Amino acid sequence: MSEAINIGSVDSIDEGEAIVIPSEDNGTKEDIAVFHAEDGNFYAINDECTHETASLADGWIEGTEVECPVHAAKFCLKSGAALCLPATVGARTHKIEVKDGELLLYPETPAVFWSLATMRSAGPPTRPAPCRSERLPGWTAAASARRWPALRGPG
Ligand code: FES
Repeated sequence: MSEAINIGSVDSIDEGEAIVIPSEDNGTKEDIAVFHAEDGNFYAINDECTHETASLADGWIEGTEVECPVHAAKFCLKSGAALCLPATVGARTHKIEVKDGELLLYPETPAVFWSLATMRSAGPPTRPAPCRSERLPGWTAAASARRWPALRGPG
């Protein structure tokens, strides 16, 4: 697990906005975009679109998804999954947490593991609300449970 980087106060990113933590500041080879999504939570994924060259921080945030500003591929901010063409490869997630009003970024620590740990300590696990792709035809609860095995609720 990587060391946390304090990237500023929660007030430094308005809801529906994003900032970029450049690679030289986050200690990885990639720029990382930190989003304040419309669900009120913060998410971090690699900034560069996996389709071509574009900054996802410059995209449009809708719910917990971001739309690339160049060719309109969408990514889930929770899982990094590519939700529609032309992107076919997901974006890497990074753990981010709020502590004493400050945003702590853990570059290269996948966000899902942080979510699992948080939910275990916070009580009975609950599955995060599905991103749009999981509500499309072809989505099944079984497939989702395979993807999020530790987040299945009791029973
Ligand atoms: S560069 Fe992002 S969808 Fe093409």
